Amino acid sequence: MERLLITGAAGGVGAMIRNRLDHLAQHIRLSDIEAFESESVAAEVVQCDLGDAGDVMGLVEGCDGIVHLGGVSLEDRFDKIRRANIDGVYNLYEAARRHGVKRILFASSNHVVGYHPQTERLDATAPLRPDGLYGVSKCFGEAMANLYHDKFGIETALVRIGSCFAEPSDHRMLSTWLSIDDLVALVECVFRVPRLGCPVIYGASNNSATWWDNAGVGYLGWTPRSRSDDYRQKVALSAQRPLPDDPAAVYQGGKFTTDPIHE
Ligand SMILES: NC(=O)c1ccc[n+]([C@@H]2O[C@H](COP(=O)([O-])OP(=O)(O)OC[C@H]3O[C@@H](n4cnc5c(N)ncnc54)[C@H](O)[C@@H]3O)[C@@H](O)[C@H]2O)c1
Repeated sequence: MERLLITGAAGGVGAMIRNRLDHLAQHIRLSDIEAFESESVAAEVVQCDLGDAGDVMGLVEGCDGIVHLGGVSLEDRFDKIRRANIDGVYNLYEAARRHGVKRILFASSNHVVGYHPQTERLDATAPLRPDGLYGVSKCFGEAMANLYHDKFGIETALVRIGSCFAEPSDHRMLSTWLSIDDLVALVECVFRVPRLGCPVIYGASNNSATWWDNAGVGYLGWTPRSRSDDYRQKVALSAQRPLPDDPAAVYQGGKFTTDPIHE
């Protein structure tokens, strides 16, 4: 690629991967609504609110690929979610269409299927069961990606990220953890595979307690290597196991299912 754009580059995930993707493109453009400094002098930093259509049009110009991490990442008031995750995704895809972007990795979320019980194993065909307005906004993002794939041929990896942190820190994360190394490897696969399409990919490491089945995306060549199992004992010592009827132990979305609608 000539230029890869990474949105949400100042966020938790963005900060952990933004200087590990330099080999994928000749130029890297990092963006966030927040001001931040890049560790890499070669990367260009552009401050941009995804809710501003004109600014997003300029942000995307000259890019061939996008890793789209930017947006509201927790349950919040609908007006905030709407600006970043609904208007923002529309602005991003329209800019991608106008500027000829070929491929996008969209950071979707396990919260699009959060009301499925933990006793179910889900694949890409599982019905959407969002567990809040945040989850609904990610369903919108997935739908936008499908529309722009079918109508304009823009390919998107819909990565339903589980819990992307340095380590799993509670019992639910033993099922949902995605290591940074595995995410970086997934980004590499997404931008290297000859034909991507618009697949759903569950973003989780090689955890024996997984609820998710990625059999449909074997063609990506992604083999997650980290294992939450290696942290099982540490989690048992540091985190209290939820009671069986606790939403954290009942639903795949865990405690997000208990969030109220924020007014
Ligand atoms: N970390 C996880 O475990 C996890 C799980 C599921 C999904 N995701 C998704 O992955 C992405 C990254 O997650 P994260 O944990 O780094 O979240 P984060 O909240 O730390 O980072 C998101 C970034 O987006 C930026 N942002 C918010 N509104 C914006 C706007 N209007 N315009 C431009 N930028 C804006 C924020 O400033 C922030 O830096 C998010 O889209 C999140 O929904 C993350």
